[in-house]
Amino acid sequence: MIDPHGGKLINRIVEGKEREALLAKAGSLPTIELDAWALSDVEMIAIGGFSPLEGFLTRKDYESVVKNRRLAKGLVWTIPVVLAVEADVAKSLKSKRDVALVAHGAVVAILHLEEIYTPDKHAEAERVFKTTDVSHPGVARLQAIGSVYLGGRISVVNRPKPAAFLPYRLDPVDTRRLFVERGWTRVVAFQTRNPIHRAHEYIQKCALEICDGMLLHPIVGETKGDDVPAAVRMKSYEALLANYYPKDRAVLAVNPASMRYAGPREAVFHALIRKNYGCTHFIVGRDHAGVGKFYGTYDAQRIFEDFTPEEIGITPLCFENTAYCTVCGSMVSSKTCPHPPERHVSLSGTKVRELLQAGTPPPPEVSRPEVAAVLIEAIRNAR
Ligand code: ADX
Repeated sequence: MIDPHGGKLINRIVEGKEREALLAKAGSLPTIELDAWALSDVEMIAIGGFSPLEGFLTRKDYESVVKNRRLAKGLVWTIPVVLAVEADVAKSLKSKRDVALVAHGAVVAILHLEEIYTPDKHAEAERVFKTTDVSHPGVARLQAIGSVYLGGRISVVNRPKPAAFLPYRLDPVDTRRLFVERGWTRVVAFQTRNPIHRAHEYIQKCALEICDGMLLHPIVGETKGDDVPAAVRMKSYEALLANYYPKDRAVLAVNPASMRYAGPREAVFHALIRKNYGCTHFIVGRDHAGVGKFYGTYDAQRIFEDFTPEEIGITPLCFENTAYCTVCGSMVSSKTCPHPPERHVSLSGTKVRELLQAGTPPPPEVSRPEVAAVLIEAIRNAR
């Protein structure tokens, strides 16, 4: 079994006497209300999805991640995981003191506040998103959150229990156990925030040819407003798996993290998270975690060359842009097909959305009819 990032699977969920003691003092602590994004970060830290993080980054780690794509001690880490608050809230807090993190009226976790610091958001945007343009959703969010960051370990006392997707809520310990039970040693993870179309299916199946099994691991944390809602996507994944995948080769589980849209840096982050879930391989296709035209088509693949395979640990499986070729009669990429683009059936995301909005399934070379049916029905129901 592959080691978690940093060697140890983190578990910041406290139980028994420790939990009771923390809960008893929580009432007298200052409180901070968590939004959905922060809540998802808390969950990912608590269950070890973000191992080796045990909490929100303190300044030294934050600055090192922004500048060097590594934690202060040198371990690769490409995305700052931070807890932002407004300046007036920060003023009322003192470092080295505990703070209760609250959501929906209940104490979720205690933040053992180590450090309060003001980040250079301009530098963060430039380095992490490679742009300061606020039309980038990551930059827009960075602008919108509080101007001060709180760093420190967390102890989760009441893990939120979302009712949605219950059968698919597998923690890293669960997927690790499952892979062992199934006898899978080479497990490929597929990150997605979209319904699965034929291009996705093709690269998954290419990967499955050389791996024992696949973890289909869609993001169900925060995504930008025009992405297909997670509940609809989950139905579309169920329809696809039921009709086109052997039952004993694919596991569907949700990834509670939020989407950053940080392209190359997020590709590495996504890979490290899946390593924590016990996967040995990770699919990186065209413009992974990209948005608009902010990143080059294969930047998210090239970034892996900046690190040694040992420091990443999980193996990226990189795929070219793929589409259906009417001459070859199969899914292809420029590596496998000599025919010109006119012979390829590939529709833009916008075009696919237009078709679905009109109740017309996209051609089967683009989307499986079962998947299209789920998406069309969801659009009808939303009207
Ligand atoms: S992402 O933001 O989660 O990366 P998406 O769900 O669209 O977006 O993509 C999931 C994975 O499939 C990513 O690795 C992406 O690079 C890859 N991918 C999407 N479409 C294609 C395509 N046509 N050809 C090759 N890879 C693709």
